[in-house]
Amino acid sequence: MAKRLIGAVDLGSHKTTALIGEVDQSGLIHVRGIGIAESGGVRQGAITDLESASAALVTASHLAEEMAEERMPSITAGISGDHIQCINSDGGLSFTPQDPTVGHDIALEDVERAVESSRSVQLPLDKSLLHSIPQSFTVDGQSAVPNPIGMVGFRLGVNTHLVLGAITSQSNLRRVSERAGLRLAGMVYSPLASSYAVLSREEKEMGSILLDLGGGTVDAAFFVEGAIRHSWSFPYAGETLTRDLAVVLKTSMAVAERVKLEHGVADPHLLGEKDEQVDVPDVNGAFVRQYFRSYLASILNARLREILEHVAVQVQSMGLEGRLAAGLVLCGGVAHTPGLGALAERVLGMPARVATPGNLLGLSEMLQRGEHATGVGLLLHAAAAEGDLDRGQYPAIGAFDNMDARAGTRRGGLMRRLGQLVGWR
Ligand SMILES: Nc1ncnc2c1ncn2[C@@H]1O[C@H](COP(=O)(O)OP(=O)(O)OP(=O)(O)O)[C@@H](O)[C@H]1O
Ligand SMILES: [Mg+2]
Repeated sequence: MAKRLIGAVDLGSHKTTALIGEVDQSGLIHVRGIGIAESGGVRQGAITDLESASAALVTASHLAEEMAEERMPSITAGISGDHIQCINSDGGLSFTPQDPTVGHDIALEDVERAVESSRSVQLPLDKSLLHSIPQSFTVDGQSAVPNPIGMVGFRLGVNTHLVLGAITSQSNLRRVSERAGLRLAGMVYSPLASSYAVLSREEKEMGSILLDLGGGTVDAAFFVEGAIRHSWSFPYAGETLTRDLAVVLKTSMAVAERVKLEHGVADPHLLGEKDEQVDVPDVNGAFVRQYFRSYLASILNARLREILEHVAVQVQSMGLEGRLAAGLVLCGGVAHTPGLGALAERVLGMPARVATPGNLLGLSEMLQRGEHATGVGLLLHAAAAEGDLDRGQYPAIGAFDNMDARAGTRRGGLMRRLGQLVGWR
């Protein structure tokens, strides 16, 4: 079998990551190249400057290419920001089976048609559909069927989670890729990608929240009974924590960032006897003030609490209390703040763990940090969308999670064949 290379790009607000992977003959993914560059032109998850964003992408993808000694293949890119909107929808279809005494054998094509019917909702003019992910199926009278393929029935119903994104944000992402000389094969809502890299199947089944605390946005995906039920983005994250420190400590963003990384903790009570003073130069570097670490922690604590309380409001407003037994799974750079897991447990009243991506062959230590969950998840999605991935090895990708990608590929294939026939290319 020919070598199958896959590419993934996470244009974060803080860093841009490019990854090259290879899917081997047994359907396992090997990471071949990694490139990380400081981001530019991305604010709160959205592209605000095409030139800077594509310059960062060029740097990151060249680094990945050098390491892999391969050209960057088509890329799957992450998309997030507060333009994302989620709706739960339903659809279905009836069958007229050849043998009415038996019923119709449900196949993948039927599932695709049922999901297709759930996509026909009135979309806001400025948005288009990014994902349509089946949550559960009904076959005749039987509800909560996780996978109807192979079952026999007269009617198939589906509940689907639809993720919409601003058309302009998608176009900008496409433009950035083009400017960087890369072909964009697909876009994936970032927290969904992160969930592939860090959630276990049990966590999705028992109910859990994937919370990606990045530089510019906090993105959350809520899973109940194995499927995504709700997703949410919030425009305050790591950079806001840094800005809070800079304003209160009267210093520059660069110093505030360093102080946060070196001395920040999520809760002043963590420090106890170990509390100590930290030197903080002022904006011009001319004057140095001293602050107790517990004071820094109280500033961080206020903002982190606010973020976590917003998550709690989402849980309540979606009626998910009592349905998230596996609790909170934290990733993104901010998840490394000492004491954040314990703070989240107290605020949300559910278990919390800080996760790092694992499970890919050739995954260097560099990638085993929470902020690379999205990049690694995008690589997983890219491999699954192309097929022949060993699903048993990557259990957090649901059987139908990349249904839209598959449908897109099929449609793409058809359009390509049509194009060749009529001589478009
Ligand atoms: N050890 C750490 N402790 C606290 N904060 C950290 C740590 N490491 C990184 N961060 C913070 O994490 C943020 C960057 O996170 P990440 O790399 O996940 O962002 P991003 O993916 O580029 O942005 P986004 O997803 O919001 O667009 C920065 O604000 C940084 O200060
Ligand atoms: Mg991110």
